[in-house]
Amino acid sequence: MSVKTLTINNQLLAASEEETILDAAQAANIYIPTLCHLEGVSDVGACRLCLVEIEGSSKLQPACVTPVQEGMVVHTDTEKLKNYRRMVVELLFAEGNHVCAVCVVNENCELQNMAVTVGMDHTRFPYRFPQRTVDLSHRVFAIDRNRCILCTRCVRVCDELEGSHVWDVADRGDNSFIISGLNQPWGEVDACTSCGKCSEACPTGAIFRQRSTVNEMQHHPERIAIARKRKEKRQQKQQNG
Ligand code: FES
Repeated sequence: MSVKTLTINNQLLAASEEETILDAAQAANIYIPTLCHLEGVSDVGACRLCLVEIEGSSKLQPACVTPVQEGMVVHTDTEKLKNYRRMVVELLFAEGNHVCAVCVVNENCELQNMAVTVGMDHTRFPYRFPQRTVDLSHRVFAIDRNRCILCTRCVRVCDELEGSHVWDVADRGDNSFIISGLNQPWGEVDACTSCGKCSEACPTGAIFRQRSTVNEMQHHPERIAIARKRKEKRQQKQQNG
């Protein structure tokens, strides 16, 4: 494993070659906004909030999936990035049905917090008011696709940590939506263990515990990293016999 040196916001840093720009920045306490990134599962670069500028590259690059390179010069907080991030959050609000006042995670929502962080007070884009489904068929949890931002954190925790692969993404582009099983009602998917990891991982009120009322639910995404460590320990034990 070799060490790379790079500069982020004029700070000279060292990182292992397996690390991403986001890893290196977080280790140096440099904040880069994220929504689809979740510690404990793989990264997919879905939300584009973590885009950074790299000198010599004409394109903005997602920090969560871009490996560090020797001599890289990265900027994470330029005016261009700030404007871009605000636009990304505005688009997320415009393309779903995010009505915070009636949401179970109002005041405990990563999307809502991100809007505050990027200084969004309104969206410049017309609301699309999509017709999306709500599935209450599970005995404990529910999914309201109106609040889904397609970060796929639920898909990845269920697949990579629980090993159940209950969730997936169906269709393409702006028709994409999260499905359970083979696009069955969640309550009919035998693979679901009702572990609740998808609910803890969800950054919005899309996946929630039933009978929670407005402002009542708090997700705990930090528990996913703990679950990952436990899984790795178990695997280590099995390997050692
Ligand atoms: S956190 Fe990197 S693209 Fe979402």
